[in-house]
Amino acid sequence: MRHFTYQDGQMMAENISLSTIAEQVGTPTYIYSTATIKRHYHVFAKAISGMDNLIAYSVKANSNLAILSLLAKLGAGADVVSIGELTRALAAGISPGKIVFSGVGKTHEELRAALNANILQFNVESLPELHALSAIANEMGKVARIAFRINPDVRAGGHEKISTGQAENKFGINIDLAPAAYAEAATLPAIEIVGIDMHIGSQIDTLAPFEQALNKGIELIKTLRANGHDIRIYDFGGGLGIPYSHDENTPPLPELYGKMIERVTKDLDLKMIFEPGRVIVGNAGVLLAKTIYVKKGSVRNFVILDAAMNDLIRPALYASHHDIEPVTLHANGAPTQTYDIVGPICESSDTFAKQYDLPEVSTGDLMVIHSAGAYGAVQSGQYNTRPLVPEVLVSDDKYEIIRNRPSIEDILKSENIPDWI
Ligand code: LLP
Repeated sequence: MRHFTYQDGQMMAENISLSTIAEQVGTPTYIYSTATIKRHYHVFAKAISGMDNLIAYSVKANSNLAILSLLAKLGAGADVVSIGELTRALAAGISPGKIVFSGVGKTHEELRAALNANILQFNVESLPELHALSAIANEMGKVARIAFRINPDVRAGGHEKISTGQAENKFGINIDLAPAAYAEAATLPAIEIVGIDMHIGSQIDTLAPFEQALNKGIELIKTLRANGHDIRIYDFGGGLGIPYSHDENTPPLPELYGKMIERVTKDLDLKMIFEPGRVIVGNAGVLLAKTIYVKKGSVRNFVILDAAMNDLIRPALYASHHDIEPVTLHANGAPTQTYDIVGPICESSDTFAKQYDLPEVSTGDLMVIHSAGAYGAVQSGQYNTRPLVPEVLVSDDKYEIIRNRPSIEDILKSENIPDWI
């Protein structure tokens, strides 16, 4: 359910109109709904409640400190992939005992920081990483709890750029090499083997690849246990898709995902860790933008927004669809037009939607780009010296700016002209 709906012809975020936020904060701006995040978290938590579980929210989806604090209050742990994300998760009050660390290229500095913080688990992705971790933990007098990230060779994910579970992808240890990797880990100092880990892709919209990968992992767990390893944890990653469009087939609801996993893993005495990102925050956020111009061409009409690909790169990078609606609802039967909805950046890829039908748009009209809560603000940049887009969190009829819009001076201040120029 979206908490971004029309009331009296005005698009609201919970109980505040988006036009009010646009007036007070300016545009473009990300806007998140507290109620939606809470709801999604509770739905997911309920779906997996039949299993011994931990939700380690995937921080990369939306790492704003306010969002992390909200999730911490709800009881979430965190899946982090950098020292930066680790620092954020800890600063937001997420207990280190609920933090897992993923990623193919953890630096020694990052391993040291995570050992210092005493995190729950390292999801180790290669033998060189294992050896580095063992040496560093040993030197620090600590023990690193590890799971290998297993690459099960299963194709899944909404786009080839976000599919991670095939043998040729850079992620994890190929499943056929896993028994030898565990055997090696068992010989190393300062390493405690606790489980296996898997993450096969993102925006996965059917259960079949999940079930296939899950079963491959279970076969591996049986082998590893037979080989004498104490496998207690199965971290099954994230990846559950969300609806991006009113018209699209809905990906399986968390409830079905949970039921399938409960069925397949029952009687195995495993603690299941989940790393959901998109399914918690994706539909809890929108990008609010203003129409700068409407341009009529000879073959296309363009709505030119003040938001651009540097603010939301998903359409340019993954050809992803985001529903777009005007903030002010037009009267029934108002004339519609077909537009390309674009940003001001000088690249054809700076396009949010092509050949999109909307009630006729005029200069100054506010537009909402939906489903932008995950992988939106976190992937924004300052291309064209466009200041980072601010973020706003709404709760009922109040809101707070949770990331400021930097000024141009702020941007210039971080740069330095050498004396010798
Ligand atoms: N765990 C690991 C190890 C991951 O790499 C990811 C996402 C997740 C969990 C969370 O996956 P989710 O539940 O959000 O699907 N920027 C792309 C998505 C990249 C996903 C990367 N990994 C996009 O905008 O679609």
